[in-house]
Amino acid sequence: MSVDTRFVDFLKARIGLDVGSVGVSVVERAVRQRITSACAVDADEYWVLLQHSSQERQALIEAVIVPETWFFRYPESFDTLTRLAGERLASLAGSRPLRILSLPCATGEEPYSIAMALLDAGIAAPLFRVDALDVSSRLIERAQQAVYGKNSFRGAPLDFRERYFSVVADGYALDEAVRQQVRFQCGNLLDPALLADQPPYDLVLCRNLLIYFDQATQESVLAGLKRLTREDGVIFIGPAEASLASRLGLQPLGIPQSFAFRYPDQTAPAPPAERTTRPPPRKVLHLPPAAPARSADGRARLAVNHGSRPATAQPPMPPEEGAAVQLQAIASLADQGCLAEARQGCERLLAEHGPSAEAFYWLGLLSDAGGKPDTAQGFYRKALYLQPQHREALSHLAALLVAQGDLAAARRLQARAAKGVDKDA
Ligand SMILES: C[S@@+](CC[C@H](N)C(=O)[O-])C[C@H]1O[C@@H](n2cnc3c(N)ncnc32)[C@H](O)[C@@H]1O
Repeated sequence: MSVDTRFVDFLKARIGLDVGSVGVSVVERAVRQRITSACAVDADEYWVLLQHSSQERQALIEAVIVPETWFFRYPESFDTLTRLAGERLASLAGSRPLRILSLPCATGEEPYSIAMALLDAGIAAPLFRVDALDVSSRLIERAQQAVYGKNSFRGAPLDFRERYFSVVADGYALDEAVRQQVRFQCGNLLDPALLADQPPYDLVLCRNLLIYFDQATQESVLAGLKRLTREDGVIFIGPAEASLASRLGLQPLGIPQSFAFRYPDQTAPAPPAERTTRPPPRKVLHLPPAAPARSADGRARLAVNHGSRPATAQPPMPPEEGAAVQLQAIASLADQGCLAEARQGCERLLAEHGPSAEAFYWLGLLSDAGGKPDTAQGFYRKALYLQPQHREALSHLAALLVAQGDLAAARRLQARAAKGVDKDA
C-alpha cells in the first residue's frame, strides 16, 4: 500500500506532522494498523470511519506519534533551568509560585525531571508548579501512573532513581511528592486556544516536537508559544531545533548544551553568565560520561585556541585538554545556532587530534539539525565505531531509525544503550 495523501493531510492538519520528517513508511504502517484494528475493508472505508469517529481520529494520532523521551534528557539544561528558577523566585519574592510548562511531555519524564531538579536544588514544593501537556491521551495516562521501565533511565548517574523511586513489579514508581508538583492534561500545540485561561509561563520547555513540523508550522507554533511565555521568560528547545529558533529570531542565552532562548522583544536584561543561586546538588552528577565537558566561555576559548591571540600568550596545552576545549567551543557554537562554525570546529578537531567519537557525534547532531538525516546517521555510526556505548549517539541514531521506519534496528540500539545504563547503575 502506498501512502494515501488524505491521511497525510489529516495528520498534518491535526498535529502538524510533516510526513517527510518521520518517513512515509511510519504513516503507512499506522494507517494499515488502524485499518486492521477498526476492521475496515480498505482505506476508503477507513477514511469514512475517520470522518465520523473522534475516537478513531485520536487512535490514528496515537499510532503515528514518536514518544521517545527519558529522565534528565540534556542534563545541562536542567542545571540552567534550576539556576533561572532560583533567580526568578528571588525576584518574585514570594508573590506567586513559579510557573513552568512542559509541552509536549510524552510519558512525563521531562516534567518530572524538572520537579526533581528543583526539589533537589532546595526549592520548596509550594514555590513552583509544572504544567505538562501532550496530544496523546494514552501517554498522559501513563505519565499520571508514573511507573517507568529501564528505557526511561538512560543517563548516568542514576542517583535520582534511588532517591525518588521505589521498585515495583513492573518498574520504578515515582514518589508522590514529585508527582504532586506536575499537573497533566491533553493538549494540542496547534490549538490556538490552548491554555488560553492560563497566565503565561516563566519557563517553557518545547523539545523534540518542532522537528516533526514543516517550516510554516514551525513558525506558527513558535509564534503561538510566545503567547504562553512571559516576556521575560525563557523557552528551552531540543538541540536539533536550535538553528530553527535562531533563524526565527529567538535569542540564544548562550549557555552551552542548554538550548535556551528568549523571544526578541524582551526588555529584561539577559541573565548573568555566572551562577547566582546555590548550585543544585546534581550539577556534576548529571553529566553523562559520553558528553563532552562544557564551559560557559567556550566560544571565547575557540578564538584563543585558533589564533586570535599570539601563540605565546598561553602555555601549550596537553592534546586531550586542547580537544576538550575545542569540544566546549563546538557545543557553545551549536547552542547559538552557528552550525557552520560548529561543523568547522569539528573538522579542525579531527584534523588536529585524529578520530574522535565526540567530534563525530557532534557532526551527526549538526547534520541532523541541518536537515541531513542520512549524513547524520553516517556520523553517529562513526562515533559508535569508536565508542560503541556512546549513549547520545545511540539514542539519536535510534531516533533517526524510528523516523525512517526501521523500528527493529532502533530497538536494538535502544537495548544497547540500556545495557550501558545497566552497567553504570
Ligand atoms: C519525542 S516526544 C518529546 C518528549 C519530550 N519533550 C522530550 O524532548 O523528551 C514528542 C511528543 O510530541 C507529542 N506531540 C506530537 N504532536 C503534538 C501536538 N501537535 N501537540 C502536542 N503534542 C504533540 C507526541 O505525542 C510525543 O509525545
